[in-house]
Amino acid sequence: MRKQIAAANWKMNLTVQQAGALTDELMNAGLQLGTDQEVILGVPFPYLSLVRGKLGDTPQFYVAAQNCHTQKSGAYTGEVSVDMLQSLEVSHVILGHSERREYFNESPKMLADKVDICLASGLKPVFCCGEPLAIRESGTENAYVEAQLRESLFHLGVEQLTGFIIAYEPIWAIGTGKTATNEQAQQMHAHIRQVMRNQYGEALANSISILYGGSVKAGNAAEIFAQPDVDGGLVGGASLVAVDFTAIIRGLKK
Ligand code: 13P
Repeated sequence: MRKQIAAANWKMNLTVQQAGALTDELMNAGLQLGTDQEVILGVPFPYLSLVRGKLGDTPQFYVAAQNCHTQKSGAYTGEVSVDMLQSLEVSHVILGHSERREYFNESPKMLADKVDICLASGLKPVFCCGEPLAIRESGTENAYVEAQLRESLFHLGVEQLTGFIIAYEPIWAIGTGKTATNEQAQQMHAHIRQVMRNQYGEALANSISILYGGSVKAGNAAEIFAQPDVDGGLVGGASLVAVDFTAIIRGLKK
């Protein structure tokens, strides 16, 4: 089975004390992950080391940064490189979140460069895509998302993309409480997998995990994750509450 993944995106939330307490609660929740299940905690830069330390060598639990720079080092005041992340034993990086595309002007080319430097360093991207409301209302969401994949991923080879993680996050569903319906999620996830199949073949398409993001909650996670092409979720608000996020993790396909 493809990896089934519950990924948290804490965004710019929590104090260090709260981050530590939340991680402790997750680690003490008695979660029993199946062999194909993973949990990824996408935490703010200042807390990466703390959270990584708390996870220790717990299998199938990983820490992600929420961004990285395109260069390995240099005069880029305020930025964080993949080498720094690696030195903290961070394994994943969330890339291309709609908030970074919109508020920080991250272009498809910049994201392609970030994907490249992550892969070259052995860090795994969680590559986000998803359409704004106007695109959904115009009925052109499939072409929009396909272009996002093409522009930032299609320069890569099959080997680099095997087991890759894509997160589909319709912008109209992020933080709004307006989750995509199970059918809308399944339809787009099947489309994304078909786009990858057309470009890279069946084996590659079946190896990638496609996560749904946008108002995933404890009460709706299991039914969304049950859709055949949904391989888990990327969770914002509900990942900040231990009981909610543990319930979401328990909703992953077994
Ligand atoms: P919410 O779960 O708060 O809607 O956020 C989704 C998201 O943007 C995760 O990256």
